[in-house]
Amino acid sequence: MKTVTTKEGVRHLVGEWKKASLTVGFVPTMGYFHQGHLSLMDECRKLADRVIVSLFVNPSQFGPNEDLASYPRDIERDLRLAGEHGVDAIFMPDEGEMYPRNHRTWVIVEDLTERLCGGSRPGHFRGVATVVAKLFNIVQPDVALFGQKDFQQLQVIRQMAKDLDMPVKIVGCPIVREKDGLAMSSRNAYLSEEERRSALCLYRALTLARRLVLEKGVTSCLDIQKAMREEIESFPFTKIDYIFTGDPESLQPLERVRSPLLVALAVFVGTTRLIDNMLI
Ligand code: PAF
Repeated sequence: MKTVTTKEGVRHLVGEWKKASLTVGFVPTMGYFHQGHLSLMDECRKLADRVIVSLFVNPSQFGPNEDLASYPRDIERDLRLAGEHGVDAIFMPDEGEMYPRNHRTWVIVEDLTERLCGGSRPGHFRGVATVVAKLFNIVQPDVALFGQKDFQQLQVIRQMAKDLDMPVKIVGCPIVREKDGLAMSSRNAYLSEEERRSALCLYRALTLARRLVLEKGVTSCLDIQKAMREEIESFPFTKIDYIFTGDPESLQPLERVRSPLLVALAVFVGTTRLIDNMLI
């Protein structure tokens, strides 16, 4: 596996692959790999001849009081895992390589970014869309893979790629969960033992919503949200950031259940903000 730190290095490497008529699959990440990332790499292997992964903790998607400085990092372990999962190259730029001092251009995807995580993390999706657009321009992949845990991010990137005529196929991959249902996330590393137990409230609330719709025939989204809220609040150390029930395409909230229904939520467990979602 090759490790590349410059844009020029990536362009050269990918250029060689393209000259040999090989297709290029891309998995953008912020590192600290868990099974979710590894499943994206495995899937990417099936979809393209060559797999390139980026590892860059993107400062522009973190708010001033968020966890940029403490975001978990373990580059040695990440490189070993990527190698074991058949990745051909890792792109690990530093901040100066991605954002030279005179960087002035930002990508803003309207409307889709106004609610859910975009509502509670102003500027977050501007940072995500910009870095992903830059990475697409550098890597020029045929296909790029993203996890569905960040459902809104996936929709924002799909919209951006479509609106800006980016010649890349965007593929969303299923959420990977721990045995008890907790969605895998690099941020799970922040949780104490007690908080880890409480973190299960997200999955519990989502499965409760699914039961209410599919087994009890509940059609009021407000009733679903109320039941989810009570479930989450029965766990210690939890503070709800948002609960969303709505349309998975437009990300507009719905009053009445419609199929498919996106149920998504963000909850602080202690100081760690966790997200999860389910399509019903
Ligand atoms: O999902 C992530 O890890 C990040 O938001 C991404 C897509 C790599 C952009 O920094």
